[in-house]
Amino acid sequence: MTVIAFADSRAFAGRLARAIRAPLRLLREHRFPDGESLVRVDPRAARHVVVVRTLDRPDPKLFEVMLAADALRRAGARQVTLVAPYLPYMRQDKVFEPGEPVSQRVLGAMLAQAFDRVLTIEAHLHRVRTLREAIPCRARSISAAPALARWMRTHAREALVVGPDAESAPWVRQIGRAAGLKWTVGRKERLGDRTVRVHLEGLPAARRAVVIDDIASSGATLASAAKALLKHGIAEIDAIVVHAIFAPGAQQLIRRAGVRRMLSCDTIAHPTNAIRCAPLIARALEGSS
Ligand code: R5P
Repeated sequence: MTVIAFADSRAFAGRLARAIRAPLRLLREHRFPDGESLVRVDPRAARHVVVVRTLDRPDPKLFEVMLAADALRRAGARQVTLVAPYLPYMRQDKVFEPGEPVSQRVLGAMLAQAFDRVLTIEAHLHRVRTLREAIPCRARSISAAPALARWMRTHAREALVVGPDAESAPWVRQIGRAAGLKWTVGRKERLGDRTVRVHLEGLPAARRAVVIDDIASSGATLASAAKALLKHGIAEIDAIVVHAIFAPGAQQLIRRAGVRRMLSCDTIAHPTNAIRCAPLIARALEGSS
């Protein structure tokens, strides 16, 4: 097995390659003056190749991973796996307003056609239960909960674990139980792309809370959760997200709302990265699922 990385995902790919004791190669990327992309791989590819690219800010990156899969098969690869620590377009999993696409299915069809297997961390699956329903190949979303629970056990003893909405309940419960911490889940109303209201009721007494969510995009969810915690008299608030998307202004919004420390998993390279997920992918690659 050989790990092949796009330059923007080299750090994660390096950690993965070390964890599975596989060679790491960088593919060569070229941008033509007109904005089109070309990728080049070793013309004698390994039988099983793992392409690593995280897919935040996804549109040009997605086409380039498709080019990489094509180049690798032409170079002799028999099995091509995509490791996308962050997988985009998962939230548009239905037509919310007439005239819209189901972006999750469009992405799924495209990736399933190019890759034998797709692995990601904590895909935002809401109306579908498994990633295979969205990407019809050997696709698997791996939970970040074990890595988060390990971090909480070491760094956040006695904190209350807070999930901002019902969707976060299963893994906030898992993290709380695995770390031996109290946990609670709020109720979220989304009023617009950048406006949400998180309601927290019946909170247990706590001095410190850690709000955990899969994604911070506008930052509105974490900011609103922090404000609700402050209202309940909990002043020491940290926040952890799996995927550090952070649209412009998000971190400031979160900080202004009272979050003391903002941390993230390393699925998207970002200064807040504190929790490593490559070992989770390594275990899945070494297993058979
Ligand atoms: C949505 O259900 C997700 O779990 C996140 O809560 C959401 O995407 C965060 O977005 P924002 O930072 O824009 O509130």
